[in-house]
Amino acid sequence: MTEPVVTDRNPIPAPANRIPTPSSPAPDIVRCAYMEIVVTDLAASRAFYVDVLGLVVTEEDDEAVYLRSFEEFIHHNLVLRKGPVAAVAAFSYRVRTPEDLDLAVAFYEELGCRVERRTSGWTKGIGDSVRVEDPLGFPYEFFHEVEHVERLAWRYDLQTPGCLVRLDHFNQVTPDVPRAVAYMEDLGFRVTEDIQDEAGTTYAAWMRRKPTVHDTAMTGGDGPRMHHVAFATHEKHNIIAICDKLGALRLSDHIERGPGRHGVSNAFYLYLRDPDGHRIEIYTQDYWTGDPDNPVVTWDVHDNQRRDWWGNSVVPSWYTDASLVLDLDGEPKPLVTRTDDSEMEVTIGADGFSYTREGDAAKGFKLGNTL
Ligand SMILES: [Fe+2]
Repeated sequence: MTEPVVTDRNPIPAPANRIPTPSSPAPDIVRCAYMEIVVTDLAASRAFYVDVLGLVVTEEDDEAVYLRSFEEFIHHNLVLRKGPVAAVAAFSYRVRTPEDLDLAVAFYEELGCRVERRTSGWTKGIGDSVRVEDPLGFPYEFFHEVEHVERLAWRYDLQTPGCLVRLDHFNQVTPDVPRAVAYMEDLGFRVTEDIQDEAGTTYAAWMRRKPTVHDTAMTGGDGPRMHHVAFATHEKHNIIAICDKLGALRLSDHIERGPGRHGVSNAFYLYLRDPDGHRIEIYTQDYWTGDPDNPVVTWDVHDNQRRDWWGNSVVPSWYTDASLVLDLDGEPKPLVTRTDDSEMEVTIGADGFSYTREGDAAKGFKLGNTL
């Protein structure tokens, strides 16, 4: 199996150890809205996200910087909060109505999760919210009310060649992807793409609420950790401009992987590491997924075009490194080890290459062989 398999439904069976489905209906999630990350040097992080990447400062004080992208009309898409340990404090989703917050409370209390209601003003720019430690150990947040700010879509006097226009998605590391997917489907998400092997091991899955490839993805590994948060640009050339700017500033060490085109999602991509090592993806031009019968794409873990459509190798740090996440007291969550096969070990051999498609070596296509 080398070509991706296309079906019309989630191809990942729910596991025997699945998290029970609550009888309470799930909150109606509109989209991923913002991430709150803890940074150890607020000035250094501000310089990276504002001076280099060009995110817009909505508000700031000595403890935190609230940033948004150019097409955003809500208060922020990223909060940089000063703290002792680089980690993620919240993956935050906007819900459709204020009543959806009550649904979130009931949904997670039924799952036995720690749930906190936070009143307006706890986080600048948003109203009442619900924060939970979800069954996978991630700090999830839900909110509806939000302060509107100027949408800078038409402010071409302010936009730069590498302009970041939207928050696109989160990516989470969790040890048991099928267990995570079953819970996320209960929460109302739909699978759009996944990576499996012929034995049925699932290595990663992409899930959406808004009609793009994803609002979040689950990547198999020791977790809970945050793999990356992704911002969208309008065009591929905006990503090239970011690379050129980083080079001109002698900051190319921040580039971890890419630029390139993904197989999964078909998007053009670039991965950066911020001053604390938090991973940021710049992402553009995936596809519409909003029809009820949107085809689901399953990639073979041995297809070297799944992670990079041009077949370029994935650097090992991309598989191994990720950010810690915090519990509701602000303490780092301990990690649970993945016991299924890891994608890195399956696809990057002792030679350090990721070109492992079955049969290719015999055909002389393996990197390092003479054609
Ligand atoms: Fe991504």
